[in-house]
Amino acid sequence: MSQSIKSKLIRLKKALHHHSLCYHLKDSPEISDAEYDFLMQELLNIEKKNPNLITIDSPSQRVGSPELNKFNKTIHEIEMLSLENVFNEQGLNRFNNRFRDKFLSVENYCCEPKIDGLAVSLLYKDGILIQGSTRGNGKVGENITENVRTISEIPLRLNGNNWPYRLEVRGEVFMKKSGFKKLNEDAVQQGKKIFINARNAASGSLRQLDSRITANRPLSFYVYGVGVIEGRRLSNSHYQRFFQLKEWGLPICSEVRLINSLVSVKAYYQDILYRRKNLSYEIDGIVIKIDNIKLQEKLGNIARSPRWAIAYKFPAQEKVTLLIDIEFKVSRIGTITPIAKLEPVFVGGVMIKSATLHNINEIIRLKIKIGDTVVIRRAGDVIPQIVSVVFECRTNKEKDIEFPVFCPICDSKLEHLEGGAICCTAGLACYAQREELLKHFVSRKAMNIYGLGGTLIAKLVNKEIIKNPADLFKLSKEIITSLDNMGEKSAINIITAIEKSKKTSLIRFIYALGIRKVGEGTARILVKNFFTLEKIQVASNEMLLKVPGIGSAIASSIVVFFAQNENQQVIKELIKLGVTWPEVELQTDNKLKLKKINKQLVVITGFFYNCSRKKIIYALEKHGMLVKHTISKKTDILFVGQSPSSNKLIKARKLGIQIKTEQDLLKIIQFNNFSD
Ligand code: IVH
Repeated sequence: MSQSIKSKLIRLKKALHHHSLCYHLKDSPEISDAEYDFLMQELLNIEKKNPNLITIDSPSQRVGSPELNKFNKTIHEIEMLSLENVFNEQGLNRFNNRFRDKFLSVENYCCEPKIDGLAVSLLYKDGILIQGSTRGNGKVGENITENVRTISEIPLRLNGNNWPYRLEVRGEVFMKKSGFKKLNEDAVQQGKKIFINARNAASGSLRQLDSRITANRPLSFYVYGVGVIEGRRLSNSHYQRFFQLKEWGLPICSEVRLINSLVSVKAYYQDILYRRKNLSYEIDGIVIKIDNIKLQEKLGNIARSPRWAIAYKFPAQEKVTLLIDIEFKVSRIGTITPIAKLEPVFVGGVMIKSATLHNINEIIRLKIKIGDTVVIRRAGDVIPQIVSVVFECRTNKEKDIEFPVFCPICDSKLEHLEGGAICCTAGLACYAQREELLKHFVSRKAMNIYGLGGTLIAKLVNKEIIKNPADLFKLSKEIITSLDNMGEKSAINIITAIEKSKKTSLIRFIYALGIRKVGEGTARILVKNFFTLEKIQVASNEMLLKVPGIGSAIASSIVVFFAQNENQQVIKELIKLGVTWPEVELQTDNKLKLKKINKQLVVITGFFYNCSRKKIIYALEKHGMLVKHTISKKTDILFVGQSPSSNKLIKARKLGIQIKTEQDLLKIIQFNNFSD
């Protein structure tokens, strides 16, 4: 036995043990599932060839997981089972043959997407939610009642009155793709640790000891089964039960189907796999369940999984590959984004050659080096990302990554911004930013110049015909037709669109300027609070910080932008060339009455630890806000305390209203020097 195999085995066991603890006990995985599986496979391969080396403490011998002791424990009256996985049609056939071999006839299968979140049990007594718990090890879970209560889609009270006296429903708490994307974008901006995937984000959010943090995370829930039922019988069809649960107000996944043949189950799998990227939530396969509950009971379980259900998993979206190099790309707003160049690898049917590392902090956090073996992940239409480094594969030949000091495009000195981002602040003077800034300027939500696409902008920038947004308004039909493939008719259409775009709104104009960190929402806030471009141009850091929704990073970015002479010149020229907007911008926001313009409409819900409701209302109103009872399209902020109204939360999320915590509220009150 070579010494190197033995030492590799020891290293692998140590690593797997450590990562298992991080995953199960600390809820903070340091490596991805794919990497964990990769290491486990390495261990299994060695143990298979050398069975004498298998020890009882090897991670390959372990079943189940240690449970956490931070939350109170809950005992599952009926064990929460897990599912056996199959990865292909043979596996599915084997699952089905079990019934044929026992001469049992299966009439219907209930097919459901396998949502990528975490299993939760909800206990309703007399129709009232009295307990929420995690699966834990299946027998003992963690009491997360306060946290599940913050999930707006989970009813605190069931509809109707014909529910069982005690009813336990089980389902998946998850984070929608959009919510996950936003959470990570915010984390990147603030230089915080990003979540590896939506499942980790959901798990991390749900298992917060402070439920106010959970309340601010966009969590969702779908029911997929029932546990304890006392005092009333439910349908004998799993599928029919969904209708009953839906009537009681529990959210059901709309993709659930009753299917009567294995051939159709396979078609369902293909259909869901095909539509996976369009679903608003992450799934990692489908779940097939025998629909007849009596038959389910007859079949029972094998170890910790039911015989009557199976998970048919999709091909992995994570793969291990080699990091060949890192390139630093300058974004439209000047942020330097590290792009990993990878040894090409197929992930989920697509060849991946590069992946994003988000920002330089990510390189530091991942401790990544050139030549490393890395785990990459491709989820839906999200750009592939590097999830982790497989440190066990290090050869010591890997090279440290050198961070750029000067902009790779314009050679200006790079600036380190708050939150760890590195930026080239040269703006239009930086060629890389010029093209992107101009594309942004003409885009639909900005100046909306129809027909002036990315290719044409690239050509115009390439030939140095346009260097800044004002140059666009100097274009002539002749200049455009002089470019390859441009006919006269297209040129006329573009000139007409440019002309038409001159009549715009101040919100669009501010957004179009491409000020770092100023999206459409912030542009709206600026206009709503300052009314005119002149006032925005001269707003100081201090003045900007007084506006709810504008933090220090946004404020300093605005001040820096308007302090640059070149930007002021471009604005002047744009106006001179005829760009205009209605004087009082909010006339376009027609439902808002002028006198209410600087009054933010807010709603509060739930119990607040630090202040009585009366004092909060007084303080907010002193701060120029108007406290309303109900949420409407006009509401600006919903402040959420403990045990908030789920209706208010649902409505606020639907309308895209800002949701803020008690902490945020306190900041506002203190900011206003509110004393009582
Ligand atoms: S049924 C006894 N249905 O997958 C059956 N599980 O790998 C228990 N999951 O712990 C589960 N979507 O967290 C079921 N439609 C679905 C599901 C689902 C996601 C999760 C669940 C479970 C895990 C098993």
